[in-house]
Amino acid sequence: MPQSEIEARAAFDHIRYAQLWEDADVLTQALGDRAGDTLVSICSAGDNALAMLVLDPAKVVVVDLSPAQIACLRLRIGAYRALDHEAFLELAGSRPSDRRAELLTRALADTDPETRAFWMALTHEVEAHGIGGVGKFERYFRIFRTWMLPLVHSRSTIRDIFEPRSQAERAAFFETRFDTVRWRLLLNLFFSRFVMGRMGRDKAFFDYVEGSPAQHVARRIRHAAVDTDPSRNPYLHWIMTGTHGAALPMAWRAEHYEVIRSRLDRLDIRPGSLEAFVSTGEKAHGFNLSDIFEYMSPEVFEEVYGSILSAAAPGARLVYWNMMAPRRVPARFAPEVTTLTDLETRLKAQDMAFFYSDFVVEEVRG
Ligand SMILES: C[S@@+](CC[C@H](N)C(=O)[O-])C[C@H]1O[C@@H](n2cnc3c(N)ncnc32)[C@H](O)[C@@H]1O
Repeated sequence: MPQSEIEARAAFDHIRYAQLWEDADVLTQALGDRAGDTLVSICSAGDNALAMLVLDPAKVVVVDLSPAQIACLRLRIGAYRALDHEAFLELAGSRPSDRRAELLTRALADTDPETRAFWMALTHEVEAHGIGGVGKFERYFRIFRTWMLPLVHSRSTIRDIFEPRSQAERAAFFETRFDTVRWRLLLNLFFSRFVMGRMGRDKAFFDYVEGSPAQHVARRIRHAAVDTDPSRNPYLHWIMTGTHGAALPMAWRAEHYEVIRSRLDRLDIRPGSLEAFVSTGEKAHGFNLSDIFEYMSPEVFEEVYGSILSAAAPGARLVYWNMMAPRRVPARFAPEVTTLTDLETRLKAQDMAFFYSDFVVEEVRG
């Protein structure tokens, strides 16, 4: 490998999120009718910026502090261009495959040398898990699925979770077969403050959550297992099986593949912070802010929120999630936005990425 590629690789950090764990169906409905508009998206693994192309915007400006996360999007762009939909799903990890190394090479053929070197070094992991399975977050789920889940549920129970059922049947299945004593024990163990603090999240995240983290997770799992239909939930399916079933995240579905492919040149990728975008003087009509506010202190959040408002066109929407920390429009800016409570309530009820505690849609007053 030439020296420059090694240097380029060293400059990348690790992938934290190899796929998007935020529901793009909910996101795109929250953004509203955005044909011809300018949108801004946090990149993460790139899937929701891609899903936003379905709204037919003039452009989607994509930002992320992490070069590794930007590399996830650049690889996807190569994959949409080079592969048909079935091959894309194999490379992604949604479908079994014994040819991921070859598909990866094809997807990387027209990408920049840094992206190519970064992903080629991950070939073995991609072969095993797909490009959507190689992040730290997905590794955390893999530990859960490989070492803990088999102690609690048989393969046939796990398969049965994803059988289509009415809501009443789902409730009965959940109470008799899914939510067992052992399952509860596992949640308590895995999501104890100690383990979560050690393995993933800062313990301070839980300061705002009602009850213990395990109780919070148990409530959200009921939402995923009973209130919504598991057979239509790609996130629960991946967590429990390591792949996708019939349901796929929005950007990966067949019906959107060609539309997204034909609009890839509307992505305007700007490695760096959201704060850097908002200081350019450009105006946008919709912001996918992921759950970035949780990573800021309340003071920094307030400051960044104000700068986003200064970059927002009248009628623009700010869409974001909270997992553990409460973040909504700071009091100082409340007169400038309207919280779309009815829309939030409707979309929260259908959010398949069930682990968030709150979903926020705020509209800038005209
Ligand atoms: C906040 S994390 C959350 C990921 C998420 N819950 C998911 O499902 O993928 C998403 C991304 O935001 C990026 N990020 C966090 N703060 C940012 C900022 N101020 N500007 C740009 N990117 C940021 C991180 O690098 C990360 O890749």
